Amino acid sequence: MTIDKNRVIIFDTTLRDGEQSPGCSMTLSEKLRVAEALENLGVDVIEAGFAIASNGDFEAVSQIAQLLKKTAVCSLARASHKDIDRAAEALKHAVRPRIHTFISTSALHMEHKLQMTPDEVISRIADSVSYARNLCDDVEWSCEDGTRTATDFLYRSIEVAIKSGATTINVPDTVGYTTPSEYRRMIQGIIENVPNSDKAIFSAHCHNDLGLAVSNSIAAVQGGARQIECTINGIGERAGNAALEEIIMAFRTRQDIYPYHTGIITQNIIRTSKLVSSVTGLDVQNNKAIVGANAFAHESGIHQDGMLKNAETYEIMTPESVGLKKSELVMGKHSGRHAFRDKLKDLGYELGDNEFMSAFTRFKDLADVKKTLYDDDIIAIVDENMRDNDRMKITDWSFICDSGKSSAATFKLTVDGKAVSVSSEGNGPVDASFKALRGLTDGEPHLELYQVHAVTRGTDAQAEVTVRLEENGKTVNGHGAHVDTLVASAKAYVNALNKLQVKREKTAPEIMSD
Ligand code: KIV
Ligand code: ZN
Repeated sequence: MTIDKNRVIIFDTTLRDGEQSPGCSMTLSEKLRVAEALENLGVDVIEAGFAIASNGDFEAVSQIAQLLKKTAVCSLARASHKDIDRAAEALKHAVRPRIHTFISTSALHMEHKLQMTPDEVISRIADSVSYARNLCDDVEWSCEDGTRTATDFLYRSIEVAIKSGATTINVPDTVGYTTPSEYRRMIQGIIENVPNSDKAIFSAHCHNDLGLAVSNSIAAVQGGARQIECTINGIGERAGNAALEEIIMAFRTRQDIYPYHTGIITQNIIRTSKLVSSVTGLDVQNNKAIVGANAFAHESGIHQDGMLKNAETYEIMTPESVGLKKSELVMGKHSGRHAFRDKLKDLGYELGDNEFMSAFTRFKDLADVKKTLYDDDIIAIVDENMRDNDRMKITDWSFICDSGKSSAATFKLTVDGKAVSVSSEGNGPVDASFKALRGLTDGEPHLELYQVHAVTRGTDAQAEVTVRLEENGKTVNGHGAHVDTLVASAKAYVNALNKLQVKREKTAPEIMSD
């Protein structure tokens, strides 16, 4: 058998580190959808969650483990038997399970966070990794805050982890502090100096606090790492993680300098990015590399002229290579079921029969009021469809908005299947709506952002509204789309309330404290 020395394993942590992004939260069905999309994208490993963090995380890891047929499914676990048992239990039906256990190794973290001596940490590494290895053949170990760890202690910890059975060693840049040349040397140093380093694969895990996460990850590969941990759209804690799409397209575009390859099907990048953005509620900035709305747009006359003569003048990669279509097939009220299903397929959505029928009904309703439907309209319809699983749903509405009088909003909803109605007056119809809807849950959410944008062009365009709510330091983004901006606003507010409810249930501070 030939060993392919330039094959890099892509470990996607959108559903774990990515889900730790401020404002992000996903329901179980959304996570399953993302997991399927990641498998279709060709990632090698999916970190599906942190099984002990909450029942919701456990359920997500467990269901993703049962769903995926090719991709390895991984759960995070701290260095304790309880965490590792929970991870193993959640992964028990996975075709390729992996347990990922970690402990901090920097002096700062050991003293202040763990309050453990270096020797205690070493024995915890030996104990936790060997315990995990008895439950699973594929064990990854991470030295949290690895890039700020003293070199000798880093080597000693890694040697113990490998000796105890770890097959992948991840060296995280937890706080986004390292630089490309430093990180490359660090990985090289580990491989050269840790006596049993030939028995493990080394992995990069970079945060983007200094905007260096992608460069650092690539530098680690140049230093000998053969796994990269990354997320779609670069979402993640604080400034995020290394963006999968940027790493992959850098490899593909600069094979002369980066002769590495992966199993990623680049043509599926855009659809995966759009899906992650819509389910997490985290918009992609327009100028974001590879997946931003302007990434392939040429505005200046000189550039357009050059592009018409030869696209290579200003294009280092083709839009088609990441899955952008040259022209979109426009849909309208005469488009039938068949055409709609084909369009969904083309956009990367495979809906079950019930879901398809409800999306098709929405499509027909929209086509009645809007002459032409573009791809983004169809995506907005599918997003709305996904929100059908929300516990609270608006069924009817009415708004009063007269000059010189205060406005009023009234809604009929179903909450866990029961009919409820709420109403309020306010300073304009949006204020009245949010006041009315706020009473639906017990908490005191604070409105941090209210943003409206048109999904497509024209005065009949659907409005897509984002509402960000904050409660006790937790933020969520809710989305709603409708041709009526007021309805879209109310839907977005209710979607955010639903997500806040999921977050409230997920809070388990006593478990998460070390
Ligand atoms: O950033 C980090 O250190 C992590 C570890 C848990 C791998 O996410
Ligand atoms: Zn991380």
